Amino acid sequence: MKTRKELIDQALTSGTLPDLPQGHFIDGAFSAPAAGRSMESQDPGRAEAFAEFARGDAADVEAAVASARNAFEAVWRDTPAAERGRILSRAAALIRENAAGLAVVECLDSGKPIGEAEGDVQGAARAFEYYAGACDKLQGDTFPIGPDYLGYSQHEPVGVAAQIIPWNFPISTAARGIAPALAAGCAVVAKPAEQTPFTALRLAEILKNAGLPAGVCNVVTGTGAEVGAPLAAHPGVDHITFTGSVATGTAVMKAAAENVTRVVLELGGKSPVVVLDDCDRDQALDGVMGAIFENAGQICSAGSRLIVERGLHDGFVEELCRRAEKLTLGHGLRNPQLGPVNSAEQLTRVSGFIARARERGIEVATGGGETVDPETGKGWFFQPTIVGARDAGDELVQQEIFGPVLTVQTAEDAEHALTLANNSQYALVAGIYTGDFTRAHRLARRLDAGQVYINEYFAGGIEVPFGGNKKSGFGREKGLEGLLSYCRTKSVAARI
Ligand code: NAI
Ligand code: MG
Repeated sequence: MKTRKELIDQALTSGTLPDLPQGHFIDGAFSAPAAGRSMESQDPGRAEAFAEFARGDAADVEAAVASARNAFEAVWRDTPAAERGRILSRAAALIRENAAGLAVVECLDSGKPIGEAEGDVQGAARAFEYYAGACDKLQGDTFPIGPDYLGYSQHEPVGVAAQIIPWNFPISTAARGIAPALAAGCAVVAKPAEQTPFTALRLAEILKNAGLPAGVCNVVTGTGAEVGAPLAAHPGVDHITFTGSVATGTAVMKAAAENVTRVVLELGGKSPVVVLDDCDRDQALDGVMGAIFENAGQICSAGSRLIVERGLHDGFVEELCRRAEKLTLGHGLRNPQLGPVNSAEQLTRVSGFIARARERGIEVATGGGETVDPETGKGWFFQPTIVGARDAGDELVQQEIFGPVLTVQTAEDAEHALTLANNSQYALVAGIYTGDFTRAHRLARRLDAGQVYINEYFAGGIEVPFGGNKKSGFGREKGLEGLLSYCRTKSVAARI
């Protein structure tokens, strides 16, 4: 096996990697797409294609769902929980053994800095480890329905669980859905984003090598229209976990409704970071920088709205601008502090927000332009950008930009900060920076968000349930609650 350095050097010099997975992963093996078509994956750091992959369609979805159904009914749902746990546990170990290779592929596919990709791979291993340990603790209840009765419940696997995965966290999102689905006893059909197909395929192969029976985890690659839509509409799918845009999530939910299929929707946000006068200033500065510039701001839970108390505002925003201007930019494989955005479309989308803001007469505090990797003159980069909001209704405050753009609002006091924070169609996460513990928890109680971070943005891991309110979606992933998404309760009441 090549070392991390050898893999990175090879990818930097050749612009690609050998031995990338070819085809879909269906019924325990790689297979060519029914229609024989392929499409290209782009390296955002160079704005050039680096590999081809299978462009699937409804026929491939059909084969994958049939394989999953068969594996679910014939093998997986009756595999003892402890054995499921052993397989997931081996998968976690194999992910760690293959971490360098997975991270380099993820970096080329998504553009993100290699250090962040490595963190995502470790996170994926943790997801399998966490749910491996949960398999044999998934126990039901008993009900006191009287001396002449016996009442109990058990958690049954839902069946075939589809995973529709976005491009911003390909391996993390795949793992946080696939691991609990398998732990619960479900079979999976995963559809990675067409921008980032490779790590999901690798993950399916790793699961097979860990001992997962053929057909329990399938991956079909291709576009949303050609693979995602038929998968979401398939009557043989019992559950859909979707992560992505509100528009596509709504379409998925409508398609699911036709079959009365369960859905978990994770649809992004415009998450506020509330910074109060009494905070630890350096801790807050570090937190706000990471909240918006990690993964070039392409995070559903990015802290994209800074709400800072007036007394702190001026110096705080100036210091943020100084730090933003010093961030190193470059190809992900050189591990810069800021990588490219994922696609030309995404770059245009981000640029559009700033161009329209300038037309409205809004001044950008720092950044605001498209740029390139200074070393190669290539890539889809956007400068780290900080911009003051004029009013709470402005699109800079209300719309998910999904790029390295921080919008700043000023609050008169904590109460005002809370009002500003909750004024959003989204409610995914919220951050609070304050030195007053009581104040922090009082605010946490009243913030409309699926999760609240206090004094460390993105605190927590696979143990903590994650998901949104309002247009950020519903249902929770991660934690034990994430496992229950893949279960249905069966209650039994007997006269004895
Ligand atoms: P998208 O929501 O269209 O794509 C997400 C996934 O859904 C991909 O796998 C895609 O192939 C699939 N998909 C697309 N159309 C589908 C359909 N009709 N049925 C089933 N699956 C379908 O997001 P897109 O176009 O890549 O990005 C647009 C915007 O969405 C971004 O600018 C960002 O604001 C937001 N977004 C939010 C994410 C999050 O983490 N919540 C992740 C990705 C994008
Ligand atoms: Mg798309």
